[in-house]
Amino acid sequence: MDDVVILGIESSCDDTSAAVIRNGELLSNVVASQGVHEEYGGVVPELASRAHQQNIVPVVDTALKRAGVKRSELSAVAFTRGPGLMGSLLVGTSFAKGFARSLELPMIEVNHLQGHILAHFIKQPGEELETPQFPFLCLLVSGGNSQIVRVDSFNKMEIIGQTIDDAAGEAMDKCSKVMGFGYPGGPIIDKYARLGDAKRFTFSKPNIPGYDYSFSGLKTSFLYNLRDWVKDDPDFIEKNKEDLCASLERTIVEILMKKLKQAAKDTGIKQVAVAGGVSANTGLRNAFMDYSKRFGWKVFIPRFSYTTDNAAMIAVAGHYKYLAGDFCGIDVPIYSNSRL
Ligand code: KG4
Repeated sequence: MDDVVILGIESSCDDTSAAVIRNGELLSNVVASQGVHEEYGGVVPELASRAHQQNIVPVVDTALKRAGVKRSELSAVAFTRGPGLMGSLLVGTSFAKGFARSLELPMIEVNHLQGHILAHFIKQPGEELETPQFPFLCLLVSGGNSQIVRVDSFNKMEIIGQTIDDAAGEAMDKCSKVMGFGYPGGPIIDKYARLGDAKRFTFSKPNIPGYDYSFSGLKTSFLYNLRDWVKDDPDFIEKNKEDLCASLERTIVEILMKKLKQAAKDTGIKQVAVAGGVSANTGLRNAFMDYSKRFGWKVFIPRFSYTTDNAAMIAVAGHYKYLAGDFCGIDVPIYSNSRL
């Protein structure tokens, strides 16, 4: 069989990315992040779309050059179809469609969430990578999602629990914002949390059935408590930032792990992975290692560079769809809602 060479394109939020893989091995992964949102404390959709338009051509060009792959060697173009910001998705998908059509290449649409999960299968050339065995559970936690996914194969996944309101990363980002820290808040909270007492403050935890999550109550409890404390002492945040961040992080990690533990117990699945931007969090990574020892889980934690949005994961998902002959037409529309 000829080599399978996939160009992956990701543009669902505020990172423009392109990657090339050959026979499942990563040759290049280029990510252009957008600093333009920092001063607004969150992603501004219209600015994101414009930045994608500026970045997409040089990013794809660089990915092909770094991979040492000519356009004529490509087997297919895989692109993120959704979920994500509509304007951002439009730029990446429109480019992918035009590029594929001009080279008469097949197109593969990839679900962004599926991409995050399949980041565990991104292999460097020659690497012996230990990958999860099917079926496995994946905790998918990012700025837009908090889900427990049962993964039965590369192309068969089912969401068994998800947030009914905010995502875990969103809760981190919003709490960071009310403390007057920068964006994204997750890495800042992670940094301060390492220096603080995680048991110092208690914030409210949700009580909802099944494997679903909720983070809006925690966010409100954090906000109201903070408002009262700052009323009494205007320097409260500065004096207590480490303990505040450590306590907040502990609460979020405990909420996430409680449902995941229940899902692992009920399904009998002991292969457990984590994916998405929040999987970079030190407290969450430590909890995974701890559960691995306590409950005999085989845990899979992605490399830091593959926790946030990247096209390598889209290219890998595209590779397995290519092998399954799962292609799409040029008329395939984008979507914004979280589904698998
Ligand atoms: O998957 P991702 O890159 O894209 C979106 O869904 O937007 O996730 C971004 C999220 C943000 O909420 C960010 O604050 C969070 O991941 N994040 C972290 C850490 N690094 C990124 N949260 C906690 N600890 C971190 N170290």
